[in-house]
Amino acid sequence: MNFEKVFAPVAKTQKREPIEDLLASTQKEIYTDDSFDDLLNQLSELGLVEMREKLEDQLLDDVYERKIMTMADACCYVENLIQKRKNALEFLRAGLSSQEKDRDVIKARLRMVYDIDASTADQELFLGSGNIARVYKLAHQPGLCVKKVINDVSYARENSVSQEARFLNELSGFEVAGVRTPFVKETISGGDLTVIVMEELDAVNFELAARGKAPLPPNFDINDFFDRLKKYITALHEQKKVFHNDLAPRNIMICKKTGLPFVIDFGKSAYADDVKNADMARDMDLAGIEASRSMMRQFLDANSGVGK
Ligand SMILES: Nc1ncnc2c1ncn2[C@@H]1O[C@H](COP(=O)(O)OP(=O)(O)O)[C@@H](O)[C@H]1O
Ligand SMILES: [Mg+2]
Repeated sequence: MNFEKVFAPVAKTQKREPIEDLLASTQKEIYTDDSFDDLLNQLSELGLVEMREKLEDQLLDDVYERKIMTMADACCYVENLIQKRKNALEFLRAGLSSQEKDRDVIKARLRMVYDIDASTADQELFLGSGNIARVYKLAHQPGLCVKKVINDVSYARENSVSQEARFLNELSGFEVAGVRTPFVKETISGGDLTVIVMEELDAVNFELAARGKAPLPPNFDINDFFDRLKKYITALHEQKKVFHNDLAPRNIMICKKTGLPFVIDFGKSAYADDVKNADMARDMDLAGIEASRSMMRQFLDANSGVGK
């Protein structure tokens, strides 16, 4: 079986970066019996080994058993995936410093993009959503999750993912009264991907718990919880000179093991120097704590026996 397809010629004049060599090898002029295998090998080369294994079985089955695809269709399908990786790579590469531009780093980043694509398509991995983003566990990286921006209009009014990550990075290691924020692994912003990859907290969203939609961790103690949260936020203001600016039940998490607070979502946060009215910003954060406390108080009163 021979299937023909003509591709745009590869520019040969420019000196190639190593990754361009890797990607240029995806260019083919004719589909032969071996094309499919070659394309699958290129997926492995790009670091997408698991994807290759899955696709090989699935596509061969579709072509030879179920007969719902031709081999040319299967080749096109794999080629599209390679092209998608290539696009992802282009913007990732633009963000790398020159010493990082080696194959291993690029392959690792491609694997990350693949993991993000696969995970954000899997509703079983969904953790929660807010005004701008949806958050998913990463399928292949236990302990990490990805916050993917989906509302570009609201996002335009908030911190960029790199600004948000900057706050989180500055707060890594900042723990007050047992309260802290998740650590950040990386951010990606380009193409159709705007994400923060961060620690997946083993925690329950405060708002869901206070609405009775998620179980309250057994160690939760409302007075202790809010004493600690207030100490953390006061230290955030006084020591770090940062205002959270969106402190509300949905942006507080309760640790499943300890019952202690985590603070998340620095998408609206600002440094004291950049805030017009610092007194107001401080009061708003403190009001957010009080609103959360009274929401939980009402829930506990209505469900006596839970919490304390
Ligand atoms: N690090 C995390 N670990 C576990 N769940 C998280 C984490 N970050 C966010 N979530 C969940 O995802 C929801 C949305 O995240 P958030 O950062 O608040 O997005 P948005 O900026 O859209 O409000 C949160 O309310 C929370 O339930
Ligand atoms: Mg939020």
